[in-house]
Amino acid sequence: MYYQNKIWIGETDGQKVCILPEMANRHGLIAGATGTGKTVTLKVLAESFSDAGVPVFLADIKGDLSGMCRPGADSADMKERIQDFGLADCGFCYQAYPSVFWDIFGKTGIPLRTTISEMGPVLLSRLMGLNPTQTDILTVLFKIADDQNLLLIDTKDLKAMLQYVGENSSELSLEYGNISRQSVTAIIRHVVSLESQGGEQFFTEPAFNISDWFAQGAGGKGCINILDCRELVHNGTLYSAFLLWMMSELFETLPEVGDLDKPRMVFFFDEAHLLFQDISKALLDKIEQVVRLIRSKGVGIYFITQNPRDIPDSILGQLGNKIQHALRAYTPSDEKNLKAAADSFRPNPAFQTRKILTELGTGEALVSVLDEDGIPGMVQKCRILPPQSLMGSISDQDRELEVKKNNLYLKYQDMVDRDSAYEFLQRKSQQDAIELARQKQAETEARAAEKESQQKAKAVEKEAQQKAREAEKEAQKRTRAITSGISNAAKTAGSTIGREMGGQLGKSLGGSFGKKLGSNLGASLGRSILGNFLKF
Ligand SMILES: Nc1ncnc2c1ncn2[C@@H]1O[C@H](COP(=O)(O)OP(=O)(O)OP(=O)(O)O)[C@@H](O)[C@H]1O
Ligand SMILES: [Mg+2]
Repeated sequence: MYYQNKIWIGETDGQKVCILPEMANRHGLIAGATGTGKTVTLKVLAESFSDAGVPVFLADIKGDLSGMCRPGADSADMKERIQDFGLADCGFCYQAYPSVFWDIFGKTGIPLRTTISEMGPVLLSRLMGLNPTQTDILTVLFKIADDQNLLLIDTKDLKAMLQYVGENSSELSLEYGNISRQSVTAIIRHVVSLESQGGEQFFTEPAFNISDWFAQGAGGKGCINILDCRELVHNGTLYSAFLLWMMSELFETLPEVGDLDKPRMVFFFDEAHLLFQDISKALLDKIEQVVRLIRSKGVGIYFITQNPRDIPDSILGQLGNKIQHALRAYTPSDEKNLKAAADSFRPNPAFQTRKILTELGTGEALVSVLDEDGIPGMVQKCRILPPQSLMGSISDQDRELEVKKNNLYLKYQDMVDRDSAYEFLQRKSQQDAIELARQKQAETEARAAEKESQQKAKAVEKEAQQKAREAEKEAQKRTRAITSGISNAAKTAGSTIGREMGGQLGKSLGGSFGKKLGSNLGASLGRSILGNFLKF
C-alpha cells in the first residue's frame, strides 16, 4: 500500500515496514517455500507502485496475477487483517488496478512483438547460440540487407536473406569477406528451430513500443502490465528472446537519470527459478549487466522465487530489498539453503534469523530494506499487508473483455506483413526465373530458326543439284542425239560422196566391176573420213 509516500509492505510490533521509493530501484527479492505468500507480497508491492504512479511489469507464470484488474473480495480473514493493521484509517479499500494484458502468442493478451532488425545480429546470435564465425556472417547479412535497403522484419525475411547470401556467397565474399555456405546453412537451422518455438509470432509487426508500458491509468495510477508467461516459459528460446530483447530495449531507450525520488518502472519476475534454470550464458550475462546498470535509468527489478539460491550469486548480490517468507528444512540441501538465506540478512539481536525462518506463518516474512543511505536495514519479522485487488485470477472470458477494451489492443491486434526482404527477394527470384525462361525461349527459337533456314538452304541446294543433274542429263541426251544424227548424216553423206567418187574411179578403171568396186570403196572411205572428222 502506498502510504505517506512510502511503499508500505507490512508491520512489525506495531511499526510500519516500508520500502523507500527512492531506494526501490535498488532491486529486490521475494523468496519463500511454496504457499507462504510470495505472490500476494508481489501484488501488494505492485499495487503500491501503481498507487505511486509507477508503471509495473509482471511476468505471470501461473496466471494468478490477472485478479489485479478486479477489486479484492471481502472475507473473514481479510476483515481480520484489515482490523489488525488498522488499514481502514489509512485509506485501504478494495479496488481494481489499471491492468494491461499482454501475450506473445496473442491469445490471452495484446500481442507483443518485435522485429528481427530491432533484435539485431548480436542478440540474435546470442539467442541462437551461434559460434563466432556464424555471428560474423549474421552481422554481414545485416550489413548487406542495409546496403540493399532490404527490411528484416520477420523470420521469413531472415531465412530469405540467408538463402540469398548462401546462393551468392562467391560474389558477396569479394565485397564482404568470406561467407561460408556451410555456416549459412547452420544458421538457417537455428532460425527454423526459433520459428518452431513461436518466433514467427514474436518477430513480426507492428513492433511493440516499450514506451506503451510507461503509461498511466485513471487517477494517475501506474499501469500494471501483465505478460502471460504460462505458455511462454515452456518455449525456452522464445522466453529468452523476449527477455533479451526487453532488457536491451529498456537499456537503450531509457536515459540515464541517476537516483530519482521514485522509480520510472518496476519489473517483477515471479517463479524466477524457471528463468534461471538451464539459462544460456548469453542471457545470464545480459540479465547480470542490466541489473547492474539499469538502476541509474530509474528501473527496479524484483525476482520472486522459492529459494534465494535459485538466483545466481552475481545477481543475488545486487538485490537490495529482501522479503524472505518461510523456508522448510526437510533435507540436508534444504538446511544449506536455509543457512544461506539466514546469513544473507543483517542479524537482529532480538531473534535467531535461521530459527525464525522455519517458523514464519503464511503472509509473514523476514524483511530487510535499504535505508535512505542505501544501507541494508537490520532484519525484521514482519506481517505482510493484504492486497486491495483480487487475490486469485479472473475467468478467460473476463480476461478477453479486458484485453479488447484496451486502446492498445486496436494498435497491436492485427499482424502486418509488409513488403520486406522476403517479398523483395521472392519477386527478384521470380523475375530472374522469368528472364531465364525468356532467354531460354529466345535461344530455342533462334536454334529452331537456324535449323529451318539450314533445312531450307539444303532443300534449295538439293533442288538446284537435281535440276543441274537433270539439265546435264538432258544435255547429254541432246548431245548424243546430235552426235548420232551427225554420224548417220555423215554415214549417208560419206556413202554418197564415196559412191560418187568410186563411180568416177570405176569409170576410169572400166566396166561394171570397176564401177561397183569404185562405188563400195568410195562409200566406206567416205564414212571413215567423216566418222573420224566427227570424232575429232
Ligand atoms: N499477505 C497476505 N494477506 C492475506 N492472505 C495471504 C497473504 N499472503 C498469503 N496469503 C494467503 O496465502 C495464499 C498463498 O499465497 P501465495 O499464492 O502468495 O503463495 P506463494 O508463495 O506465491 O505460493 P506458490 O509458491 O505456490 O506460488 C493466498 O492465496 C492467500 O490466501
Ligand atoms: Mg506464487
